Amino acid sequence: MSTADNSILGLKMPTDPRWADLASISLKEILTDHAFCEQKAATQCISLIQRYSDKEELVSALSPIVTEEWGHFRMVWAEMKKRGFPLGRQRKDEYVNLLLLHEPKSIPDDQKLLHKLLICALIEARSCERFRLLSEQLEEESLRNFYHKFMVSEAGHYRLFIDLANCYFPAALVRDAWQQWLDTETKILLQLTPRGDRMH
Ligand SMILES: [Fe+2]
Ligand SMILES: [Fe+2]
Repeated sequence: MSTADNSILGLKMPTDPRWADLASISLKEILTDHAFCEQKAATQCISLIQRYSDKEELVSALSPIVTEEWGHFRMVWAEMKKRGFPLGRQRKDEYVNLLLLHEPKSIPDDQKLLHKLLICALIEARSCERFRLLSEQLEEESLRNFYHKFMVSEAGHYRLFIDLANCYFPAALVRDAWQQWLDTETKILLQLTPRGDRMH
């Protein structure tokens, strides 16, 4: 079974199969969107480190991920340059914005951490699933290999965010909150039309 299998990732809804077809049509657009997703993943880790600087395990676990996500951005940018594509402009990530809308606001910062970690885990899991689709369905072999590397890496990040949640919160609480986030994500995906120019 692949590391990005939905049953491993825990995702409740598979991506609409039309998405990878659409994505292959707009390679230039998807690379632009992907490049900015990697930047956002790096900055998200930095902001968690800044906000929860008293949490040693978190700081130690996320510091190398910042480097890794920035490395991912550089890999995507190198691929774009090879193809003569400009970086393009950052796009609105409707999927992530809708997830953030569901983040509980009026709870103490310490409890917010659980949701912040699970949102990161969710985005990693969904990105990983989409990279798997690209690694299987894109026509060009070098691109399939390119996306396979991202799939493996983001699967590891998904695991890391779940492990961090378990490090700071009781397992039963993490499990329940994770199930709720999976349900929320399913509702959000049903609201969105699959777009071949967006990672999410
Ligand atoms: Fe990444
Ligand atoms: Fe990641």
